[in-house]
Amino acid sequence: MSRAFARIRANRRSTGSTARANFRANADGSRADRRPLTEPPGVRQPTSTPRSRSAAGSYHDVVTATLPTTPAPAPGRAARFVRRLPLPSEAVLRRLAVASLVTQAGIIVTGGAVRLTDSGLGCPDWPHCTAGSLAATPEMGMHGAIEFGNRLLTFVVGAVAFAMLVAVLRTFTSDRPRRDLLVLSAALLGFVPAQAVIGGITVWSDLNPWVVMCHFLVSTVLVGAATVLVRRTQRPLGAVPARVGLPWLERLGLLTLVVTAVAVYLGAVVTGSGPHAGDPDSKRTGLDVAVVTQVHADSVLLLIGISIGLYFTSRAVGSPGRAARAAAVLIAVELGQGLIGLMQYRLELPELLVGLHMLGAALMVMAATDAWYATRWLPSRRPG
Ligand code: HEM
Repeated sequence: MSRAFARIRANRRSTGSTARANFRANADGSRADRRPLTEPPGVRQPTSTPRSRSAAGSYHDVVTATLPTTPAPAPGRAARFVRRLPLPSEAVLRRLAVASLVTQAGIIVTGGAVRLTDSGLGCPDWPHCTAGSLAATPEMGMHGAIEFGNRLLTFVVGAVAFAMLVAVLRTFTSDRPRRDLLVLSAALLGFVPAQAVIGGITVWSDLNPWVVMCHFLVSTVLVGAATVLVRRTQRPLGAVPARVGLPWLERLGLLTLVVTAVAVYLGAVVTGSGPHAGDPDSKRTGLDVAVVTQVHADSVLLLIGISIGLYFTSRAVGSPGRAARAAAVLIAVELGQGLIGLMQYRLELPELLVGLHMLGAALMVMAATDAWYATRWLPSRRPG
């Protein structure tokens, strides 16, 4: 009998220390490879949890029966499809995130090309190009081809976003699920049909400038989301990101991002008031272009000032992580974009420069999002 109790005590000690070791390993993220595997569905795992202190040492401690529970529902067709795919490596996830960022930024530029070539109503209807045809016809000329071509690019953006989400979901059937990527990749895919509908409303409203603005601004938010996604895919599997932990720096990073959003919004208002409507007969906001351009340029000056402040604050607190470098990149992009903005205004808005300014706006959103991100999170290291 006493030998049996000794065995029980030894069993409890070893079970407890293993659990504590696993807990420590997962809490600091450095030994995530030792994370216990999840239970197979439908089977409750053996347990040795004591019912109470007084019962310690009784045979309840070592009852290790395998109890059947309600069987898990059979996986649906979508789940079976995902499971059959190869498990994506870290590099594949990173490449897909970069592809998402490039396509989301790219469609801003191609959308700009539609507007700058006056092809906004090249397809006068939606979802069909015309009442009688889904696609543009040769009689609709170059404007029809440009507008319809841009509609087709939606499928490219959608295909990349779909591949990203499926790759993330595939990791859920492994022991290293990338939960940190799920919401962003689902949002990027979910907004593809949403943007298609807003694009349709743009056409139905005969390019109402406020609707065009909304279409453009949603795209800039998606570029910001894709930037965060890229940074997250750069975290090695299992690495728990560490906060920079400097509240004032974080606030300054957030302020920089908010003022960037204001400058981008005001830029879109300038566009809605200027001559490049997307169709010669479309309405404008009615605001004075010179006045809104001045307000837009003032917001840019404020942004440059805050970004310089962010750079020097980062340096003053010891340049944690990438904060100072990200702020320096942001300032460089701002200066380039500001120069293009000034030139296009002075030269009375030549299409090429306006197109470059749109590309610059997408790069600005990336750089400002990255600078904000760098003030919050330290770069992750591979679990040791
Ligand atoms: C960091 C700097 C800047 C950012 C982030 C920025 C952003 C933007 C954005 C997002 C648009 C709207 C694009 C569109 O809806 O198609 C825009 C338009 C415009 N921006 Fe800027 N801008 C910057 C600097 C400047 C500067 C310094 C000027 C000079 C005055 C300027 C002049 C304009 C003008 C005139 C437009 C209207 C172009 C058109 O009619 O399509 N921008 N800007």
